[in-house]
Amino acid sequence: MRKVTVVGAGKYGSTTAQRIAEADLVDEVVMTDIVEGLPQGLALDMNQARPVVGHRTMVIGTNDYTDTAGSDVVVITAGLPRKPGMSRMDLLETNARIVKRVVEEIVDKSPECLIIVVTNPLDQMTTLAAEVSGFSRSRVIGQAGILDSSRFAHFIAEVTNEDIQSIRAVTLGSHGETMVPVPSLCRVGDRSLTDVLTPAAIDDLVERTRNGGAEIVGLLKQGSAYFAPSAAAYKMVHAVIKNTGEEMPVCAWMTGQYDIHDVYLGVEAKIGAGGIQQIDELPVTETELAALHAAAEAVREKVTDLEKIEWGS
Ligand code: APR
Repeated sequence: MRKVTVVGAGKYGSTTAQRIAEADLVDEVVMTDIVEGLPQGLALDMNQARPVVGHRTMVIGTNDYTDTAGSDVVVITAGLPRKPGMSRMDLLETNARIVKRVVEEIVDKSPECLIIVVTNPLDQMTTLAAEVSGFSRSRVIGQAGILDSSRFAHFIAEVTNEDIQSIRAVTLGSHGETMVPVPSLCRVGDRSLTDVLTPAAIDDLVERTRNGGAEIVGLLKQGSAYFAPSAAAYKMVHAVIKNTGEEMPVCAWMTGQYDIHDVYLGVEAKIGAGGIQQIDELPVTETELAALHAAAEAVREKVTDLEKIEWGS
């Protein structure tokens, strides 16, 4: 039986579970949360859509990790979302405690699974999940780059009036301030983005992409984005379950690509059954490469904040 668990039945988790279920990727999607009744109620609601949507996958809502046993993939969305004006760093300590506990449970019940982390702050949470799990780092991946690239593509399509499907937008690096846009590799149809828009216009779109999450948080007033984020998480789950080997931007453990070692960073990688199959080194410009190195060092520095947390017993 193929099974995916989504931890956290909030906006991000429930929409991710819904997308996986509706795609009939697996037999079961287990959705778990600390709030009693929440995952159960959402699961019941989703299952009642099956005759209409036409899929078979069952969603199991639970507060008990026993039900997650034997999962192929576990998506961790548990945590607090950013509130308006709150930085990702503010979230670090609270979400680190949540993610640590979740990973301990998951590893105990599904020792063979692959972990996809989406909880913010993403780089730290992915690093923490890898450390706590003890898994090979190719089996612990973060989601940020698909979302950032997708937001960038949307903004490019909007200002150029081109078909969204003809846009290739590339972002690497970290999520947020140290996101590294790669305009030199962005395409609008058969043209390079740099031939279509001025550097100033590209900078505007990059800035909007960098603040893409905050813009939505500001509009919503409470909670954060989840439609595009869950689409991104779904894309990763799909690649793993179907073993597609598809290339996509993910937060991956660097083992010397771009001459960057031993840090989680947003890069393009082939994703399949075992997780990261290969990190692809794109032909970036010198400036973009320097920005990628700076992002790697920024993540390395941020990750040291995890050491400041007093975990207690
Ligand atoms: N175990 C399981 N679920 C938990 C735990 C825990 N220890 N702690 C909190 N949760 C649940 C909450 O009860 C809530 O239902 O996580 C869910 C989070 O849902 P939302 O508040 O709706 O947040 P969401 O928008 O889904 O974002 C989740 O993804 O993008 C990131 O920054 C975002 O870190 C946040 C995460």
